[in-house]
Amino acid sequence: MGDRFNTMAGWALFAGIVALGGGIVSSKYYHSERPEKMGYAIEGVEAEGEGGDSGPGLNTLLASADVAAGEKVFAKCAACHTVNQGGANGIGPNLYGTVGEPIGQGKGGFAFSDALKSKGGEWSFDNLDHWLKSPREFAPGTKMTFAGLGNPVDRANLIAWLNTQGANLPLPAADAAPAAEGANAAEAGNAANAAEAPAANAANASE
Ligand code: HEC
Repeated sequence: MGDRFNTMAGWALFAGIVALGGGIVSSKYYHSERPEKMGYAIEGVEAEGEGGDSGPGLNTLLASADVAAGEKVFAKCAACHTVNQGGANGIGPNLYGTVGEPIGQGKGGFAFSDALKSKGGEWSFDNLDHWLKSPREFAPGTKMTFAGLGNPVDRANLIAWLNTQGANLPLPAADAAPAAEGANAAEAGNAANAAEAPAANAANASE
């Protein structure tokens, strides 16, 4: 029995080492796969795919967005976009009042790609979030050569700030407050909210 245990432990250790080695090799491979430079050298562009979808949703992030921080994120866009009223189109179109506008129809005769022109819909908060996460995924063939903002908080802050530039649409309500009171949890119909209800009740009960 003891021998068998040792053998098994040995195999487990061995498998661990192999996995570790594999991890190192694949991370080297992965890094060497990434191009040294993106098409345009844009300071601070973040890779796609960071920050999974597990965090709070867009509505929640927007409800608590830091507008001043969002203005700072816009530094990554300013090489190609102006945002002041009547501002000139650059490599990209002027973005004054873009939030809520039809997609790819912007002002000032900017020549949008067919990918964006034919996308349809409008720049809702949700569409902006998808677009800024990965322009290429949102509108394959777009000529906005920007890798995307991987951090959902950066995107929400930026969108909230952009909204203050000529649009000022009401921000959506947060999905569900973490400390949801019984009444709110009961109103909201989805399972996630329902799951929070016992915790909220417990908190009330302990008062
Ligand atoms: C390298 C230049 C470049 C950078 C950097 C860039 N954009 Fe763009 N952007 C473009 C171009 C070009 C288009 C037009 C895309 C098309 O027609 O396919 C565009 C289009 C857009 C549109 C659509 C406007 C409309 O009226 O439909 C939005 C919104 C936008 N960009 C926001 C941003 C934001 C926010 C950032 C920063 C996170 C950013 N862009 C960074 C070049 C850029």
